Amino acid sequence: MRWNQRLLISQLPQHLGEEVELKGWVQFSRKSSKIRFIGLRDGSATIQVVLVKGETPEEAFELWPDIRQEAAIAVRGVVTQSQQGPFGVELQARQIRLLGASVDYPITPKEHGPDFLLGLRHLWLRSKRQVSIFKIRDQVIRSIGAFFAESQFTKMDSPILTTAVGEDPSGLFALDYFDLGTAYLAQTGQLYLEASIFAHGRVFCFGPTFRAEKSKTRRHLAEFWMLEAEMAFFDSQDNIDLQEDLIRRVLREVLKHCRYHLEVLERNPAALERAAEEPFVRLDYGDAVRLLNKLGESISYGDDLGAPHETVLGEHFGLPCFVMDYPKAVKAFYMKEDPERPDRVKCADLIAPEGHGEIIGGSQREAELERLLQRIVEAGLPPENYDWYLDLRRYGSVEHAGFGIGLERLVGWIAGIHHIREAIPFPRLMERLKP
Ligand code: 4AD
Ligand code: MG
Repeated sequence: MRWNQRLLISQLPQHLGEEVELKGWVQFSRKSSKIRFIGLRDGSATIQVVLVKGETPEEAFELWPDIRQEAAIAVRGVVTQSQQGPFGVELQARQIRLLGASVDYPITPKEHGPDFLLGLRHLWLRSKRQVSIFKIRDQVIRSIGAFFAESQFTKMDSPILTTAVGEDPSGLFALDYFDLGTAYLAQTGQLYLEASIFAHGRVFCFGPTFRAEKSKTRRHLAEFWMLEAEMAFFDSQDNIDLQEDLIRRVLREVLKHCRYHLEVLERNPAALERAAEEPFVRLDYGDAVRLLNKLGESISYGDDLGAPHETVLGEHFGLPCFVMDYPKAVKAFYMKEDPERPDRVKCADLIAPEGHGEIIGGSQREAELERLLQRIVEAGLPPENYDWYLDLRRYGSVEHAGFGIGLERLVGWIAGIHHIREAIPFPRLMERLKP
């Protein structure tokens, strides 16, 4: 049978009453005196397979000792209606074949600690909660891709091996690059996207980015996936408007297509529904500092916002909140100085509610050659590594802006996951590089 004629579990509601064959893995099995149940997962969904004494052929029962957690099996049976599961169907088994045995699968339905599970990440990915997290992550990526495609963006992939520091010089992974000295793993694709706007106007990239920060928080990964966009002829305001439209679109589509998975994760959708409908909060940095002090936090004008401050703001508003125009001293060299307040830059971080912190960092970029060069020097970066970047300000420089979404932070918020390590298939943390 050609691959695209094979039926998957998620397609079964259109095949009520038909006899079909499914292949997958045993998620669970249960038996009573007359009836046996198998939870069969094939990647598209999970279905309950039913064996009834006296109705199902005896041979199917003989295989029962091999029907263990994560055994691979093929089942022929008839699709019938059911109260169980998300699809309202189950399978009345006729014939079962063992495809791949599974003995003593190490992850059992009992509670396991995070260290044990992370060590078995290659198997843990099969668990029900994990499957739901990655279905949601997939929907988020797809919605973002669809938004960009419909908004006339071109995908321009950026390199991972780089010489130019994009963000914080202290957080770089370095390696030897042939005879050319030190290369760094990219912290961002932004500088390369900036080059691409002059060819394509609106561009985006999506790939792994690397931060060698020694942070062991629930929000930090050493390797994370970033969705970055860059737009010619956009100022900071346009940048923020676009981000809000994009996040709202993602939320609406997750709420529409991933209801079941949100339920599996016991994610209360109320905060997501609110953010999908109501305008996001927009707060000037100075007002954010004043508000935080009123809410009992101690933060002075000029300080960067820390994770606890972001949590307080998120809880106060219960909606995503843009904090705009931070002090120049706490932000990266490429951000455009605010012409009215030279101690500030035209930027915005989007803070998620419910304690998930900054999910987007974005800004309008410095478009003027001399000013940009001066900022590079002030930041202590070697100008010779930025000669190509400065060329962008020599040949047709224009107002432009862009942003980067931390995919795992966004997924963490939407799926209601406490620690970001569960939002990426194989997390790279300070203390973990395996599997
Ligand atoms: O704020 P950041 O550092 O911004 C940039 O890298 C810009 N160059 C993006 C751009 O304008 N094109 O990072 C962007 C986002 C943050 O808001 C956060 O969501 C996420 O990336 N992020 C991390 N996620 C997980 N682990 C880490 N260590 C992260 N560092 C940043
Ligand atoms: Mg940031």
